[in-house]
Amino acid sequence: MAKRAQSFICQNCGAAHNRWQGKCEACGEWNTLVEEDATGAGAAARGPGRRPGKGRAFNLEPLAGETHDAPRLPSGIAEFDRVTGGGFVRGSVLLVGGDPGIGKSTLLIQTTAALARAGHRVIYISGEEAIAQVRLRAERLGLDDAPVELAAETSVEDIIATLSEGKTPRLVIIDSIQTMWTDTVESAPGTVTQVRGSAQSFIRFAKRSGAAVILVGHVTKDGQIAGPRVVEHMVDAVLSFEGEGAHQFRVLRAMKNRFGPTDEIGVFEMTGLGLREVANPSELFLSERDLGAPGTAVFAGIEGTRPVLVEIQALVAPTSLGTPRRAVVGWDQSRLSMVIAVLEAHCGVRLSGHDVYLNVAGGYRIQEPAADLAAAAALVSSLADAPLPADAVYFGEVSLSGAVRPVAQAAARLKEAAKLGFARAVVPDSARTESAAGLRLNDVGSLSTLVAEIAANGRRAKAS
Ligand code: TYD
Ligand code: MG
Repeated sequence: MAKRAQSFICQNCGAAHNRWQGKCEACGEWNTLVEEDATGAGAAARGPGRRPGKGRAFNLEPLAGETHDAPRLPSGIAEFDRVTGGGFVRGSVLLVGGDPGIGKSTLLIQTTAALARAGHRVIYISGEEAIAQVRLRAERLGLDDAPVELAAETSVEDIIATLSEGKTPRLVIIDSIQTMWTDTVESAPGTVTQVRGSAQSFIRFAKRSGAAVILVGHVTKDGQIAGPRVVEHMVDAVLSFEGEGAHQFRVLRAMKNRFGPTDEIGVFEMTGLGLREVANPSELFLSERDLGAPGTAVFAGIEGTRPVLVEIQALVAPTSLGTPRRAVVGWDQSRLSMVIAVLEAHCGVRLSGHDVYLNVAGGYRIQEPAADLAAAAALVSSLADAPLPADAVYFGEVSLSGAVRPVAQAAARLKEAAKLGFARAVVPDSARTESAAGLRLNDVGSLSTLVAEIAANGRRAKAS
């Protein structure tokens, strides 16, 4: 009897193993291996009804020629279009990932409703919610008059057969890819092989028909798009919808985009009436500032082409533990460790006996090294109990030697700060040549200069 090719596929990274083991050697995750039919993925890749080993000749095309230029379909939601690079490209497939409950379905039902109202044929397939639930939400959002075509289905073959009928839809939402299953693969729904097989079918459909398809994927606790992660390389764009549960802000970020930039973000606010676009995120992130308290610094950051001002808060307190705590929310843990090391090694700031907590206000996540200077200022301000000037912004990258390095787009950062009423900026040396947009520039060449200034200001404030 022929032995069926079974293998154990890691549900986190997609690596195949030929026997079960507790830990996936490829990605180090525990208890992620599930037995799957290894031939399944191959069958899905070939497409149904094709025998292995037999190919069909196809026409080769020149690079130049009739370009079907990427006609885009703007979604009508400016913040969404900013992230996709101007709208949905015909025949493209987008993966939108995010934690469960973050608002993916809400964002996409709002998008489909806007497009449907503009007269486009859009189809929303929900594999998670019943039609009544989707309707209820649409009603609550005041979108129930939009001519969106709706279905609660999970069979990929049935869905594609339905989509292929009638006028080609401009946009199809598959919410979510983890609930879909295809007959071409024998594994259970939700497994990596099923997710991959289903995604391949939808990608083929998109390329064939010219419809744009959005696949929704849930992410795991550590922020990776589990299961759907294995389809990241197949789709044209991967967008991630992020936010802290307790905060109202949601950030849509492009992780990969074949048709646009990957550094733009879209900012939304979750309200009782769905997601609201936030055109000026700085005002939002700075709306609840704790003026005059030690340990807070305003960082002038950049996301793509848009400046974003956000408050960084630090708390430095004597520790009662053998190993002091270093906790950070909204920034990179290793960057914090580096800034602390530089403060200790080059600026005479002793933090080894202190717990350090760093938080970025509003549930926002900073990805730029340019935040080093603002983080360092907040830390020193908290340690010295010396409030920083409320009308100052900070930006600059700190090197391991303690020097403050220039960062890109200083002029745009300064302009935004001036617009929001800030009067001075603490910046790297080189920023002096940039137009200051009316701000008073305090250029610091090294971190120790800044530390000395903060400490001196603190002493002067206490003496007076
Ligand atoms: P949902 O879009 O279902 O999340 P996902 O599809 O990513 O799992 O969003 C659900 C959350 O959003 C839920 O906790 C309630 C909240 N919400 C609002 O605050 N206001 C609204 O108008 C809607 C529709 C949802
Ligand atoms: Mg949902």
